[in-house]
Amino acid sequence: MRLKRTSMCSLLRGKDKDKDVVLAGWVKKRRDHGGLIFIDLGDKSGIIQLVFNPIIDKDSHTQAHSIREGWVIAVKGKVKMRAEDSINPKLKTGKIEIIVKELKILNTSQPLPFPIEDKIETNEEVRLRYRYLDLRRPIMQRNIYLKYRINKQVRDFLHKRGFTEIETPFLTQSTPEGARDYLVPSRLSPGEFYALPQSPQLFKQLLMVAGFDKYFQIVRCFRDEDLRADRQPEHTQIDIELSFIEEEDIYDLIEKMFSFVFNEVLGISLETPFPRFSYEEVVSRYGTDKPDIRFGLELKNISSLVSSCKFEVFRKVLEKGGKVKGLRVPRGSSLSRNDIEKLIREITFYGAKGLSWIIFASKEKIRSPLVKFFSKSELLKIVEYMEGEEGDAFFFIADEKTVVNEALSHLRLYLAKKFHLIPEKTHRLLWVINFPLFEYDKEGKLAPCHHPFTSPREEDLPLLEESPEKVKARSYDIVMDGEEVGGGSIRIHRRGIQERVLEILGMTSLQAREKFGFLLEALSFGAPPHGGIAIGLDRLTMILAGEKSIREVIPFPKTQKAVCLLTQAPCPVNEEQLKELHLKVEE
Ligand code: AMO
Ligand code: AMP
Repeated sequence: MRLKRTSMCSLLRGKDKDKDVVLAGWVKKRRDHGGLIFIDLGDKSGIIQLVFNPIIDKDSHTQAHSIREGWVIAVKGKVKMRAEDSINPKLKTGKIEIIVKELKILNTSQPLPFPIEDKIETNEEVRLRYRYLDLRRPIMQRNIYLKYRINKQVRDFLHKRGFTEIETPFLTQSTPEGARDYLVPSRLSPGEFYALPQSPQLFKQLLMVAGFDKYFQIVRCFRDEDLRADRQPEHTQIDIELSFIEEEDIYDLIEKMFSFVFNEVLGISLETPFPRFSYEEVVSRYGTDKPDIRFGLELKNISSLVSSCKFEVFRKVLEKGGKVKGLRVPRGSSLSRNDIEKLIREITFYGAKGLSWIIFASKEKIRSPLVKFFSKSELLKIVEYMEGEEGDAFFFIADEKTVVNEALSHLRLYLAKKFHLIPEKTHRLLWVINFPLFEYDKEGKLAPCHHPFTSPREEDLPLLEESPEKVKARSYDIVMDGEEVGGGSIRIHRRGIQERVLEILGMTSLQAREKFGFLLEALSFGAPPHGGIAIGLDRLTMILAGEKSIREVIPFPKTQKAVCLLTQAPCPVNEEQLKELHLKVEE
């Protein structure tokens, strides 16, 4: 006979006393006390205790002997209050239990490869291979629900403000966002390929030309790039575009959206407006364009202070146009020689060639490798410039600008963690604005800082030709707790300017027309001024879930090598399929 479920496991309470119920779920734990057998039965709502008593029902008691963790069962039974001394305060259902009258085993299970609990020490590869089991763990369920709730609140918020959710194609042309494309071979057009979109960028712009005015989509984006803890080959964006707007409209919309979502989902109220920093300022003060501003340890440039010092390393770096920057660690003088060795190992990973330090226990007690090259009064001058106090430590790196900034920004984070300077459960959001329109890539070629459809500032247009590197973009990033959670820009909406920008990026007009002809044409049919932003939903969820890896909030993620350990994708295909796609694989 079928047992039809009447309640979820963890929704029953003392008020349900003496009710007959049918529950179904997974066996989380089984304890055999000789006469009585106890089973913790769980489903997505939580856990409840079942009691199998041979006097109540001999059959189910006998069967319960064979049941193991992970089996799926349904039971019929009566809700009873537990005796005072067997109440479990850790469970929502801890005051009650179910006296089982009938049992049905719905499925058995192999022994579980790891415990279905929050704290496990299982290798991530094993977790990913059995992801459906991993996802049963309460913490993973919380993460996935959290993402769903954020999703839902974002949709509600945008619908209320007149946005329309519109889909855009996955099989499309390349949409450059700075990564490599995932390509899909066409069967019907031999030798030709679709590219999976790195974002819906061009389509959302076309939707503005089409007059939709306010678009959004919660959409998957595909990027073949080097993966890290905060990057996946496919990630989800909250993608937004509006017509007839300026930067301020975006800031206002997104601040309201974040406030609404944080409040609805987590009960956190955010302070608005979010502070705004220029790109130049964040890089100078924090060494990165995505700073964590929940703590101090800001970087200071001591180049002018040491430009004519006796220390050759500093002098040579400065002569070559490099920089000497450092940071102060309040009460850092407790750091041992060993600690400092560790710091040196950390920064060499980021390309720094050395680390100078001053341990300033007191004016009388200064330890530093720099004592060989600096007089005591010179060292005190540096300490004073760094606004130091007795008991502090100071670290300095001399190198080319980007190495100094990258290494120090990493050191800043490392030290903040070591000295517990990052307040828990606190979030700080900020805007980074005034980015340059272009930057030089590794080959020394001009590349867009955001993407090639970002508008330059109107007043910088005359600079486009002779000094493109000086042109500022109308773009913005939103940064939260040291992660870039979103970015966008006001777009180029006039064909002439778009053509000039593509040309500056090294495209001939023929190449520009071949690749972006449809966009250029659309811009010439009365494209309205428009702009937008995309928020990285996975990253946002990762931060709000307090997780360190984006994989913890994606149901079926890929490894650092872009492999799905569950399905084994990517995998070879058979000759027949290759032939149909007009492809040959070279050994
Ligand atoms: P951008 O490339 O800055 O902008 O992406 C927007 C946000 O998406 C998230 N993100 C990622 N998250 C996980 N894994 C990845 N591989 C990954 N790549 C990006 C980040 C990032 O801030 N079309 C533009 C937006 C616009 O101009 O409107 C775009 O895609 O949180
Ligand atoms: P050396 O003369 O190479 O032994 O260096 C003397 C001190 O200066 C050592 O403590 C080094 O760690 C430090 N140092 C060397 N190179 C750098 C650099 N690029 N930036 C900051 N400190 C450095």
